[in-house]
Amino acid sequence: NRKAVITGVGKYVPEKVLTNFDLEEMVDTSDEWIRQRTGIEKRHIAADDQPTSDLAFKAAEEALADAGLSGEELDLIIVATVTPDMAFPATACLIQDKLGAKDAAAFDLEAGCSGFVYALSVGSQFIESGQYENVLIIGAETLSKIVNWKDRGTCILFGDGAGAAVLQAGEKGGILATHLGSDGSGGNTLYQEAGGSLNPACERTVTNNMHTITMEGNKVFRFAVKKMGAASLKVLEEAGLEPDDVDFFVPHQANTRIISAAAKRLKLDEDSVIVNLPEYGNTSSASVPIALAEAVENNRIKDGDILVLVAFGAGLTWASAVLEW
Ligand code: ACO
Repeated sequence: NRKAVITGVGKYVPEKVLTNFDLEEMVDTSDEWIRQRTGIEKRHIAADDQPTSDLAFKAAEEALADAGLSGEELDLIIVATVTPDMAFPATACLIQDKLGAKDAAAFDLEAGCSGFVYALSVGSQFIESGQYENVLIIGAETLSKIVNWKDRGTCILFGDGAGAAVLQAGEKGGILATHLGSDGSGGNTLYQEAGGSLNPACERTVTNNMHTITMEGNKVFRFAVKKMGAASLKVLEEAGLEPDDVDFFVPHQANTRIISAAAKRLKLDEDSVIVNLPEYGNTSSASVPIALAEAVENNRIKDGDILVLVAFGAGLTWASAVLEW
């Protein structure tokens, strides 16, 4: 019974920090409002000359070292991102080259903030089928580069960062079940309008600020509260487990109120919920792997623990996974 097991994790966030107090100088907001409504205190911001691949590479190196693997040994690299370096080539190919992962398959995956959990599910299929031995999955974003810094409804939420995990085959534990879903009818609640084939970049798209994030916050909020709980219960059922069996809940870090609502639905106590939102903000597809890597680094997660990973995001999408550490 061949299972995909996470054998290494890594993370990276840029040095520059933007606090809520810094944001008070930029838009009409307050530290108090941001903390109460979202739980966020600060976020890390990439340098002007620091693209997503730079963050992804650093997280990947750490995950490979943790797994005791060299880049050359990789069979497949998946990068989940909504902020690739360019529309093409894929950021995964840039990472393939930087890591010296000779001839490895590489592609990007776009599922909004659910991207990393989607990548975990996709990557694990290649291991379970026996096609590949060593798969690297990365969630990496520089959302600061596509944020409208004049829109207080969105600019306070996002931060930059990357997280990575190595998947290898094992007989026991590992990824027990995954559950993926989408509802494209909600795509108009969270999007970046221009830069694709619908609205190619031109003077009009730049003047009208169409290259930045547009979001209807409370619609996304309601969707998230509903889906985070439901997707967690669904994947536990698929794994033949109960909420009681969960040792750690690793949710997408978008809003502490969303996380609390989901944790309540599963009747989890606070100690089992991983929250690092105050430090990083919403790093989109990087948020789940950063939270996971940090919890591992801090020795919170022990062998045999049951983890639920769950995320929601643009698409709209949702994704969940149950794994035994
Ligand atoms: N500072 C002060 N006031 C603000 C701010 C701000 N930064 N932003 C909004 N407000 C005001 C609004 O203008 C509004 O004022 P009004 O009542 O006078 O009109 C009031 O606060 C309430 O606004 P709401 O949008 O209803 O506030 P809400 O409680 O819904 O919180 C928030 C907004 C934090 C955005 C919340 O809706 C949320 O977290 N939504 C989920 C967003 C999310 O997770 N997005 C990421 C998806 S993942 C991906 O794929 C990228």
